[in-house]
Amino acid sequence: MNIYPPIEQRFSPFEFYSLMRKNNPVAFDEVNEQWGLYRYRDIEKILREPIKFSSKFGPFQVPQEYQENLNRPSLLNTDPPYHRKLRTIVDTLFVPIEISKLEPRIENIANELIDNIIEKDSATMDLITDFAYPLPATVIAELLGVPSEDQDTFRQWADNIVSLEITSDSDIDSIRKANKTVADMDIYFSKLIEKKKKMPTNDLISHIIRARVDGHSLSEKEILSFCSLLLNAGHVTTVNLIGNLVLSLLENPQEFKRLQENQNSLIKAAIEETLRYRSPVQFLFRIANADVTLSEEREGGRAGDEERVQIQKIQKGQGITLFLGSANHDESIFTDPERFDITRKNLRHLGFGTGIHFCLGAPLARLEGQIALRIILERFEKLQFNFDNSDRQDLHTKVSPLKSSFLLGLSHLPLRFQSKNNR
Ligand code: HEM
Repeated sequence: MNIYPPIEQRFSPFEFYSLMRKNNPVAFDEVNEQWGLYRYRDIEKILREPIKFSSKFGPFQVPQEYQENLNRPSLLNTDPPYHRKLRTIVDTLFVPIEISKLEPRIENIANELIDNIIEKDSATMDLITDFAYPLPATVIAELLGVPSEDQDTFRQWADNIVSLEITSDSDIDSIRKANKTVADMDIYFSKLIEKKKKMPTNDLISHIIRARVDGHSLSEKEILSFCSLLLNAGHVTTVNLIGNLVLSLLENPQEFKRLQENQNSLIKAAIEETLRYRSPVQFLFRIANADVTLSEEREGGRAGDEERVQIQKIQKGQGITLFLGSANHDESIFTDPERFDITRKNLRHLGFGTGIHFCLGAPLARLEGQIALRIILERFEKLQFNFDNSDRQDLHTKVSPLKSSFLLGLSHLPLRFQSKNNR
C-alpha cells in the first residue's frame, strides 16, 4: 500500500489523510518498507517515546555512497543521552525570553522588505520571493553570523535538498545534485568556521565552536552539521508558515475580516491555526528500536464507537512515517478540522512535533510569523490574489506548490495590493 499522498495531491493531501485515518491508520508500504501512521494519538505517543522509537535515521532512501552526506547525524537525528548534550548547547539561546529581544530587528527587516515592494510601484508582488523567503533567511543568517547577501545561494541549496524524494523514487541526478549541495555547504561553512575560530564573534556559529560536550569541543563534522541544520531548518519551514498563512487568509475572507477587526487578539491564533491547517512540515521519521505492537482503532464498533480491531507488529529496525499533517486534521481531536478557523479553541497541534525533539526554533518561527502578519496588516490594504480565484476551485492549479514531499508550501504567490499611506 502506498502510504504517501499521490504527487498531484501533495499540496492538498487532506482527503487522502482522512481516508487513511479512517481505513488504514497504521499502514505498511511494502515497496518502501515503511509504516505510515495517521492518527494524532498514535503519532503523539511515538514522538514521546524516543528510546523505543529512534530518530537516528536520515529520511532519504538513497544509495549507500550518498548516505554519509544526505542522512548524516545532527541534533535532529540523535537519540538520548547524546541528544540532550547537543541540545543543551543551543537550548537557552532559543527560549522565548531570548528570542523576544530580536523583535525590533525582525520588524526592521520586515518593514524594509515591504518598502522595497512598495517602491517597485507595480502594486503587485510575489509574496514568497519578495517577503516570506527573505525575512526568515535574513534573520537566521544574522543569528548564525553568515553574510545575508548569500541568501540566493541558500535558497538554491535548500531547494536542492528539500526537493529530493523521501522514497526510493528519487532520480539519480537529483540525488547527485543534493549530495553536491551538502559538499558545497561544508566548504562554505568550513571557511567561515576557520575565520571564527581565529576571530570569535557574538553569533551562533562562534557559540557552537566554543561549546564543550563532556569536556570536549565538537568535532569539525559535528559543527558543520549543526550549521547546515540551523541554516536550513531556520528558514525553509518559516517561509512556508508565512506563505501558507497569507494563502489561507485570502482563501477564507471571513477569517481575514475577523483578523483585521481584532488584530491584537487574533494574530497569535492565526499563526497557530496555520501551523495546524497547513502544517509546513508534513511528516517525520522514526525507526523502531525493538519489536513493538500497535493496536489499531477503527470506526464501526457498537453504536458507532471506535473499537480496537487489529494488532500491527512493527519489527525492530523498521521505519515509521508519522504524518503530522494528518494528526493536525484528526477529527477526534479537532472539531471540523477541514475548516480554517482562527478562533478555534484547543489548538494543541503537532506542527512543531512534541517530546524531546520539539522544534528548537518554535519561539523564533512564531515571533517571525506574528511580526510578518502584523506588518502585512499595517502596511497593505486590499490584499488579494493576482489571479482569478472567483470560482474558488482548484486553487493548487493556480499557485505554485513547493516541490517537496515533506514540506507543504508555495514557491510563488502572486498578490495585488494597495499600500496604506502610513509611513
Ligand atoms: C514554522 C516553522 C517551523 C516548523 C513548522 C518546524 C518544525 C519542526 C518539527 C516538526 C521538528 C521536530 C523534528 C522531529 O521530531 O524529528 C523540528 C525540529 C527542529 N527545528 Fe524546527 N520548525 C520550524 C522553524 C524552525 C526554526 C526557525 C529553527 C531555527 C533554529 C528550527 C530548528 C529546528 C531544530 C534545530 C530542530 C531539531 C530539534 C531536536 O532534534 O532537538 N526550526 N522543527
